[in-house]
Amino acid sequence: MRINHVGEVCAQALYDAQSQFAQNAGMRHQFVEAGREEEDHLAWTAQRLRELGSRPSLLNPLWYAGAYALGAVAARLGDARSLGFVVETERQVEAHLAGHLQSLPLQDEKSRAIVEQMRVDEITHGAAAQSLGAAEMPVPVKKAMQAMAKAMTTTAYYF
Ligand SMILES: [Fe+2]
Ligand SMILES: [Fe+2]
Repeated sequence: MRINHVGEVCAQALYDAQSQFAQNAGMRHQFVEAGREEEDHLAWTAQRLRELGSRPSLLNPLWYAGAYALGAVAARLGDARSLGFVVETERQVEAHLAGHLQSLPLQDEKSRAIVEQMRVDEITHGAAAQSLGAAEMPVPVKKAMQAMAKAMTTTAYYF
């Protein structure tokens, strides 16, 4: 759940940056809307962490700063590529959440409900970005994003 929370901290940063530096109003609107749903995700995961007697990642300010910088770079590459970045990010998050659902105990209904709803929302965010005219990310970029996500989730598990 801490990893999911970190993911949502990053989602805040990405959508903040990408709406800030978006080149047209329609996109800015979409990013702000999606960002609002990510705020719900952030709140749900934070609350669930507390209920489980755990704590958020100590490195959250760092995750936020890194993701914000990344979002700003994506936005600077133009709207199509910025949208493509969203599509790929949401796809990877969705895959992570699907994996988490597999490993979550069936009796942890609260956690499962949160993860399932987030998964549905991330699919919607990805589809919305796709429909606005996302450019497909080059495979090496996707791989780099995956590697980065892996480093992040591994670190967040412990810290
Ligand atoms: Fe989310
Ligand atoms: Fe999302």
